Amino acid sequence: KSVLNIAIAGLGVVGSEVARQLIRRNDALSAAGGSRLQLVAVSARSKDSDRGFSMDGIQWVDDARDLAKIDDVDLVIELIGGSEGVALDLTRAALAAGKHVVTANKAMIAHHGGALAKLAEENEVALTFEAAVAGGIPAVKTLREGLVANEFSRVAGILNGTCNYILSRMEKTGEHFDDVLVDAQKLGYAEAEPSFDVDGIDAAHKLTILAAIAFGHTPHFEAVKISGIRDVSAVDFAYARQLGFRIKLVGVAEPGRVPRMETCLLPLSSQLAKVDGVLNAVAYDGMPIGSVLSVGPGAGAGATGSAVLADVIDVAAGRACLPFGRPMAALSDGSKAKNGN
Ligand code: HSE
Repeated sequence: KSVLNIAIAGLGVVGSEVARQLIRRNDALSAAGGSRLQLVAVSARSKDSDRGFSMDGIQWVDDARDLAKIDDVDLVIELIGGSEGVALDLTRAALAAGKHVVTANKAMIAHHGGALAKLAEENEVALTFEAAVAGGIPAVKTLREGLVANEFSRVAGILNGTCNYILSRMEKTGEHFDDVLVDAQKLGYAEAEPSFDVDGIDAAHKLTILAAIAFGHTPHFEAVKISGIRDVSAVDFAYARQLGFRIKLVGVAEPGRVPRMETCLLPLSSQLAKVDGVLNAVAYDGMPIGSVLSVGPGAGAGATGSAVLADVIDVAAGRACLPFGRPMAALSDGSKAKNGN
């Protein structure tokens, strides 16, 4: 098709950035996908905000679910967030209506990824979610495409920028958790519900998705052992330093074991220990490649927008991968698998 008509649901920090990029860099992005990328409809909470792009020629829809009813729309970018509610209703309706869906919604994919992938397969459309895991780091593509020929023995990562920022700063300055959390929230990386960050839930959503792709099953969030960073105090950093360690919140997925979030001690010499501040990192161990480490911005408009647009370009070019890298018939049921794998 020579034109791909796009609708965006949710014009927050990421949605507005994606809209601006689609408009300002339209020639380059369209050329990359081989089709004219045309933003034709949007929906957001408030109509009046100035988001740095012109609404000329773009249809406004009050209820995001109605985007799935617009015949002309080929692809819906879902950036509303939340595992249930409007985001899930819209995604289901869009897939059922034969529209491709690109989403950054880690909670929705962690909870409903299997059912949504099935719906996408039945309707022969793409469902992609590169932006759901580690923001700008192409972690999903790396596992599902670049390293697809490997048998993974471990996928581990620093998957929450807010927590990594808090831990890095507590270590450097000796400040208390509550004070640093307030600053982390001001950076604009934190989830609307801060407990999703500091209690490890957001990182567990991302780990759930990585484990599913690495080990060939549907996502099963309920299996993940979750812990967060609320109980870490200044004295822990002092002891860790004396012993030559750094404290990090790390998600670990291994075959045959329950995926787990761990606030753990990493030796100063390890690569993950050196990842500071709001950065994310994903370490892949597999056969025959050995070890690969990706480090980069795990949140923010530019990073997440970059990942969303990569998916849009893949869809436009007709090369979007199956959501979890293989057909549903070849994926095992994550909820039935022993130990979540
Ligand atoms: N709250 C998340 C983080 C944003 O801090 O990493 C990206 O998912």
